[in-house]
Amino acid sequence: MMNHTEMINKTEIWVKEQLFDEKSGHDWYHIKRVTNQAIVLANKEQADLFIVTMASLLHDIADDKLIENEEKALNSIKEWLDSIQVTPEEQALIFDIIQSISFKAGNGQLLRTIEAKVVQDADRLDAIGAIGIARAFTYSGQKGQAMYDPTIAVRDNMTLEEYRNGKSSAVHHFYEKLFKLKDLMNTESAKEEAEKRHLFMEEFLEQFYREWEGV
Ligand code: ADP
Ligand code: NI
Repeated sequence: MMNHTEMINKTEIWVKEQLFDEKSGHDWYHIKRVTNQAIVLANKEQADLFIVTMASLLHDIADDKLIENEEKALNSIKEWLDSIQVTPEEQALIFDIIQSISFKAGNGQLLRTIEAKVVQDADRLDAIGAIGIARAFTYSGQKGQAMYDPTIAVRDNMTLEEYRNGKSSAVHHFYEKLFKLKDLMNTESAKEEAEKRHLFMEEFLEQFYREWEGV
């Protein structure tokens, strides 16, 4: 029988191999940051470290943005967990998390466990602060969007449909999503960290606009 540490180490290698060429903002280092952050939160919130670590490592493997076939991806995760002998009870907890946080169907779903809350918070924390800013600009550049376009109205009440069809920019994404995330944190520990990252983003934009206008 493998122990939990060995299962985690093997899973890290397995995930790393699959995300090696990922360019949509969910590369291996995103997974690694989310996992590290989730462990910090899990310690503070007394969540199960094995379940949190495994779910964090696997949370984007079956994401609908990354793969064509969710069912196939879920099966491959199942085969992987079987192969390293993760128990059916543990697998159920891990699947519950990755399905409720990374799927379209799971969006808005109430999270049942503290472990799920912690992983979702860690994933959301990675979208804000200095890293979140860098990811937004990287994403925009890759999609051919401007870093900023002052001719686009900033509307924080845009629907997802309008937003998908309309023009946007990296700076607009702050209003569309990033500034909303701090109020969506589940745990007190994540709220505290989100508050700091939120302030940093506000300061960043103030400076950005100052330089944009010419000082
Ligand atoms: P998630 O991690 O929630 O699955 P996404 O796949 O939507 O997030 O986004 C990956 C990264 O790209 C995040 O940091 C997100 O803020 C950023 N991003 C997503 N959509 C946009 C956009 N329209 N403009 C700029 N950045 C974006
Ligand atoms: Ni993620």
